[in-house]
Amino acid sequence: MQWNADSYVQKHAFVFQYGTGLVDLLAPKPNESILDLGCGSGELTQEIASHGATVMGLDASAAMIAKAQQQFPALDFRIADATDFELPERFDAVFSNAVLHWVPEASAVIQQIHRHLKPSGRLVAEFGGQDNVGQIVTALLRHLHESGYKQAQANWWYFPSVGEYASLLEKYGFRVRLAQHYDRNTILADPEHGLTDWIEQFGDNFFTGVSATDKATVLAAVNGELRPVLFQDGQWVADYKRLRVVAEKR
Ligand code: BEZ
Repeated sequence: MQWNADSYVQKHAFVFQYGTGLVDLLAPKPNESILDLGCGSGELTQEIASHGATVMGLDASAAMIAKAQQQFPALDFRIADATDFELPERFDAVFSNAVLHWVPEASAVIQQIHRHLKPSGRLVAEFGGQDNVGQIVTALLRHLHESGYKQAQANWWYFPSVGEYASLLEKYGFRVRLAQHYDRNTILADPEHGLTDWIEQFGDNFFTGVSATDKATVLAAVNGELRPVLFQDGQWVADYKRLRVVAEKR
């Protein structure tokens, strides 16, 4: 996945704006050490730091880390992969907003988080849950299949159920204090091109190996099919379903 950090900040700021509620749930305290796993362009890392905590932001995208460093030069940002980062520090909390659905190797990530927490340290995370953006995914796959791309699938996203994810957390040594699956219909920024902008920012993997002409045809068909359902009161609304968890290292 290649990230365009500028368009992410300009057109998809809702990703970190919604995350401020998750920072409230984290409730960072002065002098706590907190790891922001998948910090993106750094807005929530800064929000956590503003509570007096010491924060480190990790992200797999060099473009996002460069943007974060440019926006918040006083903070500590590093490029790292959630499945195999190695740090000497042990943290009071690991925070992660809108990232874990990008990493299908969930067991590896959970074990990494567990290893980097102090005893009784907490994980506070939110990401896409079961059936997230289901109408968009279904329409995209249908039109890709109909255009001859029979192998198309969405297997680079991981949208687990509460049961699946809570069980994994327990398996790898966490006590699950909260696990919630909820609907969060999300207004997309541009009233006219919002759905296409969203697909191009977050779903470009659908079009690997797809010709530019076929991509344009599929995007037009998906817009046409979903307009009666997801275009409401002059705005595109994506059918987000979130999984929110708070878990403590046992
Ligand atoms: C999400 O935050 O749920 C999400 C974002 C981009 C693609 C898929 C899901």
